[in-house]
Amino acid sequence: MTTKIILDTDPGIDDAMAILFAEANPDVELVALTTVYGNAEINTSTRNALYLKQRFNFACDVAKGASGPLVRDPVGASVVVHGENGFGDVPLEEPSIEADPRSAHQYIIDTVKASPGEITLVAVGPLTNLALAIEHAPEIASLVKEVVIMGGAFGTHEHTGNVTPFAEANIHDDPHAADIVLTANWPVTVVGLDVTHEAFFSSQYLDTVRDTCGDIGQFMWDISRFYLAFYKERMGVEGCFVHDPSAIAYVINPALFEVRKGPIRVVCDGPAEGMTLQKYRETKHKTDEWKDKPAQNVAIAVNDRALLDLFLDSMTHYASEQ
Ligand code: RIB
Ligand code: CA
Repeated sequence: MTTKIILDTDPGIDDAMAILFAEANPDVELVALTTVYGNAEINTSTRNALYLKQRFNFACDVAKGASGPLVRDPVGASVVVHGENGFGDVPLEEPSIEADPRSAHQYIIDTVKASPGEITLVAVGPLTNLALAIEHAPEIASLVKEVVIMGGAFGTHEHTGNVTPFAEANIHDDPHAADIVLTANWPVTVVGLDVTHEAFFSSQYLDTVRDTCGDIGQFMWDISRFYLAFYKERMGVEGCFVHDPSAIAYVINPALFEVRKGPIRVVCDGPAEGMTLQKYRETKHKTDEWKDKPAQNVAIAVNDRALLDLFLDSMTHYASEQ
């Protein structure tokens, strides 16, 4: 069955991979890209979403979202990881199409209400738009099919953080928004570093994507040169972890992942700000800030080989039909 998704994103190199994966896979209907600051500032991430829509003829809407976090001071764009233009500084033509006039959070509210029970929200950037949507229209909690988030790190396999020792980038960018989204009464699955650091696009794998996936494969290869240089310089590896595409893989085939249930809270200030903590044991405490919060899913294991096969198969099949 096809899953309708709104993909909330800060494109971003791995965001572009996730967007193209979603567009390519026939089990996903990409209803919209809603944009958020993060890897790039909001005008750049929105331009990049519009660029992808125009260049690859997506039918989806694009709606521009938040330019900064709810409470904390902005962290600033991840230029060192994604380049000045968010797409690895590959030259891009300015798109001639425009975004939907509504803000991203209003677009999310309207679309979820128009199709109750049908829309899965997939968020692969800071969670500001989703927090604004649920704050402005709490009734959408019961109307959303599912919320899938790339973000957070819960310490499985010792994966505890990437932008600080104990925080993942998307959550660290707006911990207050993340705490709102993760404690809201809607069904959330978090696909964090616990699993995204267990799947790896090697340089050779990306060469295969370039050689077998037509225009989208070449584009992914081009923009990922900058990303791979960052990984090599920072971690000494030849390739990159599979962050945002993993959230799409979960939507297509949740059986690729093992999940653990329990309520989640986010540390909102201090040295551990952005840290995500799941209470997954039934212990009793005099003080318990997890008590009465809904149990959510955290992905703790992934079939990485099957995920890589799914990604490549989706892309090659799509390319063969263009
Ligand atoms: O930590 C990885 C996440 O941060 C990904 O969503 C990536 O695009 C960056 O935003
Ligand atoms: Ca992202």
